[in-house]
Amino acid sequence: MASCTRSGFVDLRSDTVTCPTPEMRRAMADAEVGDDGFGEDPTVARLEALYADRVGKEAAVFVPSGTMANQIAIRVLAPPGTAVVAGRQAHVVAYEAGAAGRNAGVQFHLVTDMDGLVQPSDVMYAVSLSAYHQPEVSLVCIENTHMASGGTPWTLDQLDALARGAGGLPVHMDGARLFNAEVATGAPAAAMAARVTTVMSCVSKGLGAPVGSLLAGPAGIIEAGRVERKRFGGAMRQAGIVAAAGIVALETMVDRLAEDHARARRLAEAVADRWPDAGAHPKRTSTNLVVFTPPDPRAVIAHLHAHGILADMIGPGVVRLVTHHDVDDEGVARAALAIAKAP
Ligand SMILES: Cc1ncc(COP(=O)(O)O)c(C=O)c1O
Repeated sequence: MASCTRSGFVDLRSDTVTCPTPEMRRAMADAEVGDDGFGEDPTVARLEALYADRVGKEAAVFVPSGTMANQIAIRVLAPPGTAVVAGRQAHVVAYEAGAAGRNAGVQFHLVTDMDGLVQPSDVMYAVSLSAYHQPEVSLVCIENTHMASGGTPWTLDQLDALARGAGGLPVHMDGARLFNAEVATGAPAAAMAARVTTVMSCVSKGLGAPVGSLLAGPAGIIEAGRVERKRFGGAMRQAGIVAAAGIVALETMVDRLAEDHARARRLAEAVADRWPDAGAHPKRTSTNLVVFTPPDPRAVIAHLHAHGILADMIGPGVVRLVTHHDVDDEGVARAALAIAKAP
C-alpha cells in the first residue's frame, strides 16, 4: 500500500509538502519509460510537449527542480560578466544561495519589487547604466506569481509594459506558480508566456506532483538548455516515472487551485483581523500565499505549532502561510481560530 508521510499537522509551510494523488501513483506505476539521457523516454517527451503546448512555446525541457530551470535559463540567456535585472525579493536573487553568480558569472541589478512587480522604468534605467561603466544588461527576470510579496500575479497589461521597457532584451519568467496566476487572473498561461522569452513552472508545488519543473521557450534556446541541464547533472534516465505524475498534475490539478486561493483569503482575513498592520491584505490575496510580519513571529509560529498548525518564516520577521491540495476547509478553520488567539 503506497503511503506518504504527513506531519499530522495542518501543514501551511509550503505547497511543496503535498502527497501525490492516487491517480499520480497509478500513472507512475504504469508509466512507459526509456533512457531520457538518449532522449528515449516517451513519458518525459509527452510531458515536455504538453507543457510547451500549454504555455504556447516551441519546446520544453523537464528538469528536477525550479531552481535548476531558473539557473538553466540564466546560463543560456545571460553571458558571463553581464547584468541581470531582477527584483530584490525574487527567488533567483534571494532564495537560490547565490547560484546565478556562481553558475553563470552574472551580477544582478536589483530593483524594488515590494508589490511583486519589476517596473519598466527600472529596467530602462539599468540598461542606460552601461554607458557609465556598468555591465551590459543581458536579461530581465520576473516572477509570476511573486512569492515574497504574497503570491502576486501579473496582469497581461503589466507584462506588456514590462516587455516594452525591456526593449527587446530577453525576459525569463519564473512561473513556479504560473498556473495559480492563470486561475487567479483568468489570463491563459500561454498569453502570459507569449510576453516573455522563457518560462518555467513547477509541477511539484500547488499542482501536487512529487518532483519536477519545466522550462519552455524557443526551440534553439531549449536545445541549449538541454546542454546546460547535462552540465548541472540534471539529465535523468527513466524519468518518465516522475514525469507521469507531472502529466496528471497539468491535466487535472490546475482548476482546483481556485479552492486554495479561497482558503488563503480566509487565512489572510484571520491574519488581518489579528494584526491589522502586519501586511496581510485579504483583498489583495488572490492566490495561495499569505505573507505577514507579526510583532513576535517566533512566538506566533510556536503558538501555531502548539495548536497543530505548521508555518514557516521566509526571512527575518516574515511569516508565510501556504494553502494547497492537502489543506481542507477544516484545517483552515483550525488555523484561523489559532491565529485569532495568537500572541
Ligand atoms: C517563486 C519560486 N521560484 C522557484 C522556486 C524553486 O523551486 P524548487 O524548490 O523546485 O527548486 C520556488 C520554490 O519554492 C519558488 O517559490
